[in-house]
Amino acid sequence: MDFLKMSDITPVQLGEILALSAKLKAEYKSGAINHLLEHKTLAMIFSKPSTRTRVSFETAMTQLGGHAIFLDTSVSQVSRGETWHDTGLALGSMVDAIMARVHAHSVLTELAAGSPAPVISGLSALEHPCQILADLLTIQECAKPLSGGKLAYVGDCANNVANSLLVGCAMAGMDVSLIGPASKKPSEEYLNLARSFGTRVEFTADAKAGLAGADVVYTDTWLSMGDQADEKSVLSLFLPCQVNAKLMSHAKKDAIFMHCLPAHRGQEVSAEVLDGPQSVVGQQASNRLHAQKGLLVWLLAK
Ligand code: CP
Ligand code: NVA
Repeated sequence: MDFLKMSDITPVQLGEILALSAKLKAEYKSGAINHLLEHKTLAMIFSKPSTRTRVSFETAMTQLGGHAIFLDTSVSQVSRGETWHDTGLALGSMVDAIMARVHAHSVLTELAAGSPAPVISGLSALEHPCQILADLLTIQECAKPLSGGKLAYVGDCANNVANSLLVGCAMAGMDVSLIGPASKKPSEEYLNLARSFGTRVEFTADAKAGLAGADVVYTDTWLSMGDQADEKSVLSLFLPCQVNAKLMSHAKKDAIFMHCLPAHRGQEVSAEVLDGPQSVVGQQASNRLHAQKGLLVWLLAK
């Protein structure tokens, strides 16, 4: 099976991956060596920059006794016109799984259609599901309830992180408020998908109302990789959405602040919040490693 979108897994499977990630993390922290993926190889294709995704997947494979191969699209045969289907066919017949970070989501589905091995999204313009595994693991560790809790996401509510977060949090039993300018509303398809899991899901331009009762406040860049927009107009559109101390004060007193990173201090988040006591962004980034391990073991053990 592939993991290209949050909805590729069920809420029960999400729970299994999170439990496995937490178990592997605890074992790793206690010094145990877990070569669960010995002799397994992961191909990692990148058409966009990355720091956390590349390093977390490669380190996960190393620590689990396997191996990862980095492929930059610009120096692979796709740059000369080979189709993503044929790339998937060739790579997937040699490696045990493929992880890819690409522009259009259709590239992932084409790659997966050709590949006999599972394909994992390392981010596309539509979703960033692996990020959300690490995010849910982090929220759990902060003793915040997943089921019955509330996450408020502020900013570009139509981007990849927002889409995956919306669905992932709803699957985990959380209420979700998405707060942003009307032109950055999530699609009806994503809102309806999230609502199908039975929690309260809303999109609002009213930050104060949306943040009320939030256990988690989350933001992401206002301009995603590959977005074509004039920076000045983006800044003026989103400035009221900056997560700063005043905005944080509308959430629960003990709310945590999260960001998938990389962050732009002074834009979507003020430095005082990003570096402040409510911020868990360091723990969140390090959990990419443990969540990737949980996902890889869950997928490849099947
Ligand atoms: N959060 C995230 O995916 O980071 P990178 O772009 O550094 O991989
Ligand atoms: N929305 C961001 C996430 C980066 C990890 C982007 O796509 O650039």
